[in-house]
Amino acid sequence: MISVAIDGPAGAGKSTIARAAAAQLGFIYVDTGALYRSIGLFAVQKKIDFAQKNDIIALLGQIDVELTFVDGEQRVLLCGEDVSDEIRSPEVSMAASVVSAIPEVRSFLFDLQKDMAKHNNVVMDGRDIGTVVLPKAQVKIFLTASPEVRAKRRCLELEQKGERVSYEDVLADIRQRDYNDTHREIAPLKQAEDAVLVDTSELTLEESVQTLTGLIRSRLERE
Ligand code: DC
Repeated sequence: MISVAIDGPAGAGKSTIARAAAAQLGFIYVDTGALYRSIGLFAVQKKIDFAQKNDIIALLGQIDVELTFVDGEQRVLLCGEDVSDEIRSPEVSMAASVVSAIPEVRSFLFDLQKDMAKHNNVVMDGRDIGTVVLPKAQVKIFLTASPEVRAKRRCLELEQKGERVSYEDVLADIRQRDYNDTHREIAPLKQAEDAVLVDTSELTLEESVQTLTGLIRSRLERE
């Protein structure tokens, strides 16, 4: 099986670019952030106090998360219910960032991610895929862009969905999540030593996809 690990900060375009690259390669695209978001959503639904780590850990026994694919598109099922759209709200983004810093949450989701790569050719995106989940991935890419560019892109995305947002709020949100993701003790966001750095700040979406697929193909040819 072939694994392509794509890590990087929030809003670098990872999911859009990785999804397109996976489609071109005929691989399954696995968005691991959706798993952390599902746990975040569950905690929001249960009105958990996010300062109480133990309360979040106690929830894990009640949670059942599953990934399914409908027409090649990943859907995430939380206790049997498709929550793929619900997990995209800013509230759940922040909740996901908090719960993902808890070691018990990470180990809860570890096997599920490993299993996907064991049985499928995957392009898997997240924060610790190249460093922790799939350290033996044949290709590792660290995809990034400046916080300002990422905030602009996120604003556009939310506006297209009809949501009114302020650029300053979105930028502050991104900076906060970057801080959380890079400073947590367990599996912090960092570039794997053998990962290729791709900065998409100056690239269009199409250019980013081309850069990525080109990179992946040339690495796989060398395998
Ligand atoms: O990629 P995303 O924005 O959907 O991720 C949501 C949160 O989950 C983000 O704050 C970081 C966390 N995450 C993680 O810790 N490890 C992963 N492999 C994927 C996401």
